[in-house]
Amino acid sequence: MHDFHYVDDELCCEGMPILKIAGEVGTPFYLYSYRTIKNHFKVFDGAFAGISHLVCFSAKSNANIAILKIFIREGSGVDIVSGGELYRALQAGVDPGKVVYSGVGKRADEIEYALKSGILMFNVESPQELEVINDCAGRLGKKAGISLRVNPDVDPRTHRHIATGLRENKFGISIERAREEYHRAEKLPHLDIKGISCHIGSQVTEIAPFTDTIERLKKIIRLLRKDGINIRYLDIGGGLGITYDRETPPHPSEYASAIMKASAGMDCTFIFEPGRVIVGNGGILVTRVLYTKATEDKNFVIVDAGMNDLLRPALYDSYHHIQPVVKREGQEIMADVVGPICESSDYLAKGRMIPRFERGELMAVMSAGAYGFSMSSNYNARPRIPEVLVRNDQFYVIRKREEYADLVRGEEIPNFLMNETVA
Ligand code: LLP
Repeated sequence: MHDFHYVDDELCCEGMPILKIAGEVGTPFYLYSYRTIKNHFKVFDGAFAGISHLVCFSAKSNANIAILKIFIREGSGVDIVSGGELYRALQAGVDPGKVVYSGVGKRADEIEYALKSGILMFNVESPQELEVINDCAGRLGKKAGISLRVNPDVDPRTHRHIATGLRENKFGISIERAREEYHRAEKLPHLDIKGISCHIGSQVTEIAPFTDTIERLKKIIRLLRKDGINIRYLDIGGGLGITYDRETPPHPSEYASAIMKASAGMDCTFIFEPGRVIVGNGGILVTRVLYTKATEDKNFVIVDAGMNDLLRPALYDSYHHIQPVVKREGQEIMADVVGPICESSDYLAKGRMIPRFERGELMAVMSAGAYGFSMSSNYNARPRIPEVLVRNDQFYVIRKREEYADLVRGEEIPNFLMNETVA
């Protein structure tokens, strides 16, 4: 469910016509519905009301501080993977005791920043990282909360670029080796073992990979507890998929009941790190048609948003539904929707039946709330686009459009290049 719908052929976000927003902020821009994403969070969180749990929204999917704030106000923690994401989460007012930190390549300065901030735990991804966290904590006179991110070797049956819980992936510590690493961690004086974590992949549209994972983790938790290691938290990661096109992922309530059933009697606090399922369908990209061009082979619709703004189609060949902002009568045509970037992979839709757009018309690229702005870049020296949040019949610019001056901020021409006689 989302709050993007037509009223008299005009696409609105909640009670706000998108045409009006475009008139005021220009194009392209990201647009989020407050009601949709808040509701998605509440549905997800509420599905686990029966068990002790903490939802840590995954900042990588959408790290705008206004968006983070929506969840933080609902009691959410944040799942981070860098010092920068920690900074964003803190700026948004997160309780540091609700922050979990994953990622295979945490730098010592990032670890220290997290320790000083007092985060709940690090999801540790390698034996060497255990040592580095222990050293950092020792230097700061602190104890670091940790869990080991276990790689359960489960196939999430998703795009190969976003599968993470297979043996061949770089993530986590293999389930066979985990027990021995827990014993090593126990001997390190500045670590406090809090739990166990995993994340099998993203855009997972079936339940079985999650429940298989829990079965595997259950076994190791039992062994660890027998060894006297107190596992208090079980972090299942994120990964629940959404409908972009025709996928039929389980509803969060089905996902929750399957997880609760699989883990009955485990006596731990569950942590979830959802991203996409909360924000994916709560945001769209609004772009304007610059030109249409028919070649011998194809129709092209050239729009003002490119792969630097929404990378997913170029990177994963992913599907985003295309809709007109103002509907009008007319036949559909088969076309490629492409951006202004100088790369052939710069497309938003390929070989798609879409309305016959004209120059100047607005297009909505749907399901762009997750991994949209957060993966955008300045490639081709394009200022990054604004993010706008709608609540009822009001809109708020929650990130301004970058200016040309932002493009060169921090750059410097060395003096010798200013000198005409340099060799
Ligand atoms: N926790 C960890 C440790 C993760 O690595 C991820 C996503 C999540 C949670 C959140 O997963 P979600 O609930 O959003 O599926 N850029 C790709 C997705 C990459 C996901 C990376 N990890 C895309 O646009 O599809």
